[in-house]
Amino acid sequence: MRQKLIAGNWKMHGSLAENQTRLTQLVSGLGDTSAQVAVCVPAPYFTQCKSVLAGSAIQCGSQNISEYEQGAYTGEISASMLKEFDVQYALVGHSERRELFAESSEQVAKKFAAAKQARLIPVLCVGETLEQREAGITEQVIAGQISAVLDQVGIQGFADSVVAYEPVWAIGTGKTASPEQAQAVHKAIRVQLNALNSEIAQKIQILYGGSVKPNNAAAIFAQADVDGALVGGAALNAQDFLQICNAAS
Ligand code: 13P
Repeated sequence: MRQKLIAGNWKMHGSLAENQTRLTQLVSGLGDTSAQVAVCVPAPYFTQCKSVLAGSAIQCGSQNISEYEQGAYTGEISASMLKEFDVQYALVGHSERRELFAESSEQVAKKFAAAKQARLIPVLCVGETLEQREAGITEQVIAGQISAVLDQVGIQGFADSVVAYEPVWAIGTGKTASPEQAQAVHKAIRVQLNALNSEIAQKIQILYGGSVKPNNAAAIFAQADVDGALVGGAALNAQDFLQICNAAS
């Protein structure tokens, strides 16, 4: 039985004051949950995040990572820097990075490798656009995004890693994939990995992301291959996020 993971992606939201309130509410409200919980906060707030979350079961994650180890890469943040702040997770290849910052699948694969090298847990985000879904090529697109990473790190790279299926058309739109649509893609991802290594495929957590809210989380989590969620908007409200964590418990 895979443990569920609920990760909040705060994106570029927050302030010291706002974070303090939200993180404190999360710590005091989490209670006993069987799910793993993490928040991916903007990098300037790692110190605050670690300090407020100290002693709680909630982990801290990054929203991005550089594919380079160090050097003249203005504005980038390396895996070893994240490690120094005791960050556990790094999102890799979020669709906003792929679309708005033109990250290619090859670059995403290198970022994934950089996270693994530093013993961070990469959360590889994959997902199709509405156009691709309507063209009937969803599973092909996802398989290609996964293959690019397999080409870089091999199947062993997927041990102790996380995949997040986030249909682009469901992000921030209030439209979620139906539980059945999510399950179909999650299963296809597991089947693709299973063909290479069944143990890794059975163990890997595959999260769903895209307008996950307290009122739709339980139905999505009930699907056999859905192992939690990557939550955007609802992660900015502590009560909503806690309800989603409870739905996974
Ligand atoms: P929303 O939950 O706001 O749709 O965002 C999902 C997401 O992009 C998480 O990474």
